[in-house]
Order: sequence, then structure tokens, then C-alpha cells
Amino acid sequence: MADYAIAPSILSADFARLGEECDNVLAAGADIIHFDVMDNHYVPNLTIGPLVCEALRKHGISAPIDVHLMVSPVDRIVGDFANAGASYITFHPEASEHIDRTLQLIKGEGCKAGLVFNPATPLTYLDYVIDKIDMILLMSVNPGFGGQSFIPSALDKLGQVREIIDASGRDIRLEIDGGVKVDNIGQIAAAGADTFVSGSGLFSKGQDGDPNRYDSIVAEMRSELAKAQ
Ligand code: DX5
Ligand code: ZN
Repeated sequence: MADYAIAPSILSADFARLGEECDNVLAAGADIIHFDVMDNHYVPNLTIGPLVCEALRKHGISAPIDVHLMVSPVDRIVGDFANAGASYITFHPEASEHIDRTLQLIKGEGCKAGLVFNPATPLTYLDYVIDKIDMILLMSVNPGFGGQSFIPSALDKLGQVREIIDASGRDIRLEIDGGVKVDNIGQIAAAGADTFVSGSGLFSKGQDGDPNRYDSIVAEMRSELAKAQ
């Protein structure tokens, strides 16, 4: 049985009730909180920063927090997120002047480190740094917004990354982000992903205030994942 993890993207949560929303998706069986950081520079949208990450920890969230940095520059903000309780910090290689240095910085702060690949970003960025990587995040949409459609070429790319990870012999999570829903999660798992970000696919159906909605969506995702084994 693959070690599958469901990572709700809080970008689509109700921000006015963020702590409660996180409690509810985690109680429903989700594993990781996916935390999208946008700076209105690297991507054309603006979201949340380290203060919100710290607030979630203070609220009592103990699950891993997976900080997806869509910011440029990257390095200045890494320590702030580490201090705020981030578990994973991933960044886009195009957004860092010195990729190896940024990875070292994240690891030096005691966090797990990862690279994020946009749909058109080549995997060659992995060539010399795989020994410093704990997570590879493949974007199946262009970053910046929730609610976009899954780009099918990400399936082939997942297979290529799965081969790279297996050949490395390292324990590296393979995460997919963008347009992941109950109806395609099985196909995405079969292509090689083990960690599944879902924003609108999870939260948009549960925002009538009924936390039990999340139970059924997470259960449906788990059942599709079980079939993909
Ligand atoms: C997009 C973000 C995603 C986004 C996913 O830039 O990185 O995490 O919230 O949202 P959905 O699941 O709605 O595509
Ligand atoms: Zn994301």
C-alpha cells in the first residue's frame, strides 16, 4: 500500500474561519495542510504569510504544514516560515538566484525542502540537488489561483519524476498541485504521485458550514486511491 497523503490547499478555505476549517479537514482524515504563499510579483495574486502559519500552530494544528512559496526573492522569507512552524518549504527554482543555497537554507532551518515545477519547467533543475530534496511538487496548473483545470501533460511528467525518485533511492515525496478532484485522483496516483493537494475540490463543497461534508470527500478520495494501488 503506497503511503498516500491528502493535502488540502487552504487557499480555497473560508479565511474568516481558517483554524476551524483546518481542524475540520484534518478530522475528516486529511494528512497535511498545504499553505499557498503568493506575493503579487512571482505570481499575480496575494495571499498569506508567516503570521498566519504561526497563528495556525497557536490554534493547535499539529499536522505537517507544507508551505508552497510562490514568491521572489525566496531566501529572505525562509527563516520566518521556519520560525512560524513550517514543516516543508518548497519553492520555484526560477524564483531563486541560487537554488542550492536556498535548499541549504531551508534544511539548515530544520525544515524539509522541495522544488516546485511549473507545467513548462524542465526537470533538469533536479540534476545536481536531488540529495538535498525531500519533496518534489509538480504543478498541474499555472500557479496563482485555485479552481483551475488539471493540465493533462502533468501525468507523463509524474511518471518521469517517479523514475528519477526511484533511481535516487531517496525518500522523496511526489506531490501534485492543481485541479485535483475525486474524479481524477486515482489516475494521478497511478501516474506516480503520492501526495495530493486539493483546494477547490475539497473546500468548495464543504463551505455550507457542515464539517461532515469534508468526511465524505476525503473518504471518496481515499477510495479512489485504494483502487489505484
Ligand atoms: C495554485 C496553488 C494551488 C491551488 C490548488 O497556485 O498552488 O495549491 O490552491 O487549488 P485547486 O485544487 O482548486 O486547483
Ligand atoms: Zn500550492
